[in-house]
Amino acid sequence: MTKGKNALVEAIEISKQFRIGKNRAIKAVNGISLTIRKGGIFGLVGESGCGKSTFGRLLLRLIEPTSGKVFFKGTDITSLSNREFSPIRRSMQMVFQDPYGSFNPKMRIGSSLKEVGKYFGLSKESVTARVSELLERVSLSEDLLLRSPRELSGGQLQRLAIARAIFNNADFIVADEPVSALDVSVQAQLLNLFCDLRESTGLTMLFISHDISVINYLCDSVGVMYLGRLVETADTADLFHDARHPYTQALLASAPLPGRKIKVVLPGDAQDSAETVGAGCEFYSRCPPRSDKCKEEAPVLRRVSGTHCVACHLCGASSGYVI
Ligand SMILES: Nc1ncnc2c1ncn2[C@@H]1O[C@H](COP(=O)(O)OP(=O)(O)OP(=O)(O)O)[C@@H](O)[C@H]1O
Ligand SMILES: [Mg+2]
Repeated sequence: MTKGKNALVEAIEISKQFRIGKNRAIKAVNGISLTIRKGGIFGLVGESGCGKSTFGRLLLRLIEPTSGKVFFKGTDITSLSNREFSPIRRSMQMVFQDPYGSFNPKMRIGSSLKEVGKYFGLSKESVTARVSELLERVSLSEDLLLRSPRELSGGQLQRLAIARAIFNNADFIVADEPVSALDVSVQAQLLNLFCDLRESTGLTMLFISHDISVINYLCDSVGVMYLGRLVETADTADLFHDARHPYTQALLASAPLPGRKIKVVLPGDAQDSAETVGAGCEFYSRCPPRSDKCKEEAPVLRRVSGTHCVACHLCGASSGYVI
């Protein structure tokens, strides 16, 4: 059973390790617990390689976890057989970063979308009607159906990828860097499309991005990841006005947002801290205000106020650490 009645997706202590050769393993996702509310857009942000895509794929059960569970509408999908999971899989979809890699280059767009309709068991007439409806929803003309992916712009193809993801009224979408490959004006149009879809369909989304200003624009709540762990979660406004974790503060400092005064330059990179981490905090070697406790004991994510949670020994409940 889920803990919250508004929860659509809930991860409980989910972990994924990848074996590298005989003796090494990467903890790509390391014990994350997270609830995504129905109708919300949850933004996941963090540096390259911190485990964002792996976490998204775990939520959709595109990969199996090493440990932990994922609940979807109250059902533990990690314990279902493939057969039992099959109908649930249809209401969970993914939009990828590269729109050109998302469509068969040898097929016309119309044929690709028809295949999707067939997969969902729709009749020929229903597919035609649904495709027209979806094209209108993503503001594209029916002429595009006769073209091949190479004859379309990245923005047009990404709109089509979104149309395909909502073909069967999916309840949950993981959008993995869906605007990163597009230029800024097209990015803005697509972010508005995601906003419209949330309003009109009540779609719930995990929106992955390394760009904190995109997250600020679109998402209701945010999780900040560092080396496989969530280090801070909060409602978006709260995170942007009252970031507590030194890593979140550094991320915000690097974002070109108006009125931002904090400037933090972190020493080293995530790879360095991955190699030096022992039992303590993963962020220890790069953290400007670190203490001895941080070296010895990994901090757990704990509530500091309302829905705001931080994994940091230095961030108190009443006042966060301020750089
Ligand atoms: N199939 C795999 N086999 C081995 N290692 C993997 C695999 N997939 C991911 N990893 C490793 O797991 C870690 C997390 O990767 P992931 O792709 O989830 O990061 P990310 O935050 O999405 O990065 P980016 O922002 O670059 O997309 C990385 O160190 C990556 O090399
Ligand atoms: Mg990724």
